[in-house]
Amino acid sequence: MLSFDKIPSTQDYAHDLIAEGKATDKTVVVAQAQSAGRGRYKRTWVSHHGNLYASFIYKVYERDPKLSYAVAVAIAETLIAFGLKPQIKWPNDVLIDGKKISGVLIEYARNFVIVGIGINIKTCPTVKEYKTTKVNDYTNASVEEILSVLMKKLDKWRGVDFAFVRERWMELAICINKMIKYQGKQAELIGLNEDGALVLRFDSRYVLTYGDEISI
Ligand code: BTN
Repeated sequence: MLSFDKIPSTQDYAHDLIAEGKATDKTVVVAQAQSAGRGRYKRTWVSHHGNLYASFIYKVYERDPKLSYAVAVAIAETLIAFGLKPQIKWPNDVLIDGKKISGVLIEYARNFVIVGIGINIKTCPTVKEYKTTKVNDYTNASVEEILSVLMKKLDKWRGVDFAFVRERWMELAICINKMIKYQGKQAELIGLNEDGALVLRFDSRYVLTYGDEISI
């Protein structure tokens, strides 16, 4: 594990390691703070001291849309271990009481995937896109305690058959069988199929999707 007090971004550091040929399977980059933390859709991930910021590097042979669900379940199970009651918003945002507590950024580089995870523990930023919350509003767990459980849960959920991930993801997911908004249109969120596609129903038409965002 490579640990830093403050670097621009654990995700960018992981990319550099891969580019320099220094990454191996299960290299973990952790920082106590980031000066240029990145989220999905080129958003900034505000990264003050006190929260968890980590990038997990895994060796892969091909892109795998199922990985993001295993990661979401691992984060949710980590929070459950500390007594919280998380829900997953597709594909891998984790919410508590409808407020975002964790985000995941998955990026591929050469024959590796980088799973960047941020969990709000001590502080949570105010952002205009969604409401946020933090672990310490519910329990006094530390970054180290949460990281240690998260590493075990990631190993577990990456290793199990996707059928188990899919089942657990569906139990934890928000809005299954409810109406959501996808690309500006109302749709019913049906769930995940065996390949990890999200199944949506627009009236009588079923649509499979792997990307984009839903709003609830
Ligand atoms: C999201 O937009 O929800 C994803 C946020 C991902 C943030 C994490 S923090 C560790 C890693 N380093 C980064 O710069 N981003 C990811």
